Amino acid sequence: MAASVRADTPGDLQALVWTDRAHAREVLLEQPATCLDPSAATSTVRAGEALFNSPALLGGQAERAGMSCASCHANGRRSQWFRLDGLSAAPGTADVSSSFFAVQRANGRFDPKPIPDLALPGKVSHEPASGELERFVRGLIVEEFSGAEPSVQTLAALAAYVRALRPCPDRVREPRGLAADLRLVEAAIAGAMGLLRQGDRSGAIKLVKGARFRLGLISERMTGREQAKLRRDLLAASRELSVLQEAPVADQLKAWQTRFERKLKPALGKAEPRSLYAPAVVNRWLKAKP
Ligand code: HEC
Repeated sequence: MAASVRADTPGDLQALVWTDRAHAREVLLEQPATCLDPSAATSTVRAGEALFNSPALLGGQAERAGMSCASCHANGRRSQWFRLDGLSAAPGTADVSSSFFAVQRANGRFDPKPIPDLALPGKVSHEPASGELERFVRGLIVEEFSGAEPSVQTLAALAAYVRALRPCPDRVREPRGLAADLRLVEAAIAGAMGLLRQGDRSGAIKLVKGARFRLGLISERMTGREQAKLRRDLLAASRELSVLQEAPVADQLKAWQTRFERKLKPALGKAEPRSLYAPAVVNRWLKAKP
């Protein structure tokens, strides 16, 4: 089954590339609510979450298209409006044995499956002693998506995140505002520093790339001429990271983070009500689309 990368979206936002057109609004403004197990080791889980959201983890065609684990498993759960021509039947389904991602597991059949919610018990055991989850995730990255072999530390972080996922007791959905994206930038930089401390340079590079990808997602929401300077500043911040990405150094990542928090973060917060993070702006934007 030859899949095309045509995005069925009302606009040209990366955040909507995998979204059923009728549900753009929900996908821009909401996500499934996730409550992480409070007893899990926080820094590892955060690194895992950032890896889960970084297309660089998957490599190849998926990375070029900006796809990460979270494209299908939003907030670790289930992207109910996920849709990609050639990969999905109904929204929320995907054929993960398609030659779109890798020849290795391509089975020549179009057999999309419902995307599972990773916070609920499924086919794959989360029992740490069995190592089944680590093996499954490694298989996904290397065989399903043709990604580079992940390090032991990278796999451990991803598995820790998946194991920590829980439904929230009090809510099903939560807002997907600027705060959610900023949190992922921070998790990526903190995670990169953590992986460097553990000697996982390749994992750290994937996280620096993940932080840059997230900055791009923030930038595309800062629409209009009045936010042009903010977009330039985001681009400059991303360029600084691109230099570090070649040879990440913990101290320099820390210095970047401090600058980001001091300068860009407050400016972004101020702009949020006039950006595509704001429901009223999203409504207007969707109405103006053909
Ligand atoms: C293109 C969409 C897509 C992407 C990207 C994706 N998944 Fe999935 N995932 C699925 C589908 C569909 C299934 C169910 C497959 C099946 O039932 O055979 C699945 C199953 C799983 C399961 C097993 C759930 C169970 O039943 O126990 C885990 C764990 C998982 N994915 C984690 C990940 C991780 C980690 C990544 C990133 C490395 C990832 N997925 C990327 C669509 C996706």
